[in-house]
Amino acid sequence: MFLDLGSGNTRKPMHKVKKAIIPAAGLGTRFLPATKTVPKEMLTIVDAPIIFYVVEEAIRAGIEDIVLIQGRGKTAIEDFFDTSYELEDKLQKDGKIHLFERLVKIREMANIISVRQKQPLGLGHAVLCGEKVVGRDPFAVLLGDEIMVSRAGEPTTTEILASHFNSTQSSTVAVMQVSDQEVSKYGIADVIPLKESLFKVKGFIEKPKPHQTTSRWALPGRYVFTSEIFSLLKSSTPGVLGEIQLTDSMNELAKKADFFAATFSSERHDAGDKFGYLKANIEIGLRHPELQVELKNYLIQIAKKLEQQ
Ligand code: G1P
Repeated sequence: MFLDLGSGNTRKPMHKVKKAIIPAAGLGTRFLPATKTVPKEMLTIVDAPIIFYVVEEAIRAGIEDIVLIQGRGKTAIEDFFDTSYELEDKLQKDGKIHLFERLVKIREMANIISVRQKQPLGLGHAVLCGEKVVGRDPFAVLLGDEIMVSRAGEPTTTEILASHFNSTQSSTVAVMQVSDQEVSKYGIADVIPLKESLFKVKGFIEKPKPHQTTSRWALPGRYVFTSEIFSLLKSSTPGVLGEIQLTDSMNELAKKADFFAATFSSERHDAGDKFGYLKANIEIGLRHPELQVELKNYLIQIAKKLEQQ
């Protein structure tokens, strides 16, 4: 926390976003049978699990504490960010220093705090499970199966939201444009444009029918909130699909406080969905120094073959 002395004589406390909640308690039913024994957040994109890319995005935005909201059978996620003594020892003895250093970097990436969501009551409930750790601080939420791939030198989506929060102290979420057919898959924001890439939010609606809203600005799963959201979540009742929906409390918050939405330039992939997962693998593979040339040539070759069939 630091003090903003700029606005008159009043010393206004300014908070920075240093904490993030990553809900990762879902059953991953869209990915069965793979997710019967492996949490979907641990499925591999090139050579690291999905959750690695999500945590990396949070760290790049200046987040220091990550609250993982987990369900049963998800301990592999915690283990991934923990020390593996035998493995690290063997890699060092075998002279595989590059791999050893990579593992050390991952376990030192962030302070991971695990919280159990004991019942799958919905995304809003999962976020509320992080309240005891987050307290009254502002915090980011990154959905554990959405991957945002940003180009080198570009800010990540969470970085955009956190930096907007740091200057406005108001909740800010990412939005992306979707087609009429996709509206009912997402939370939708009713927005007023303020300037290029920034909107004021009037309200939100979770998974509406296309005729229920004229907006096509959807929530891709990246948020920054003031702690006010917790009290709204506590009094929230089940919404769409009988679940405690985060979007419902966001709607209430937007009615009583400034709430902003920002666009982003990263490529977003829903890695919890089969096609999204394949696309994320290809996209990240095409940026991987060891794979990019070979993979690109292979894709060109296979596309040509398919055209000839
Ligand atoms: C959740 C949110 C929804 C958001 C979406 C992004 O829905 O409830 O508002 O647009 O994530 O993927 P789910 O995909 O869990 O049904």
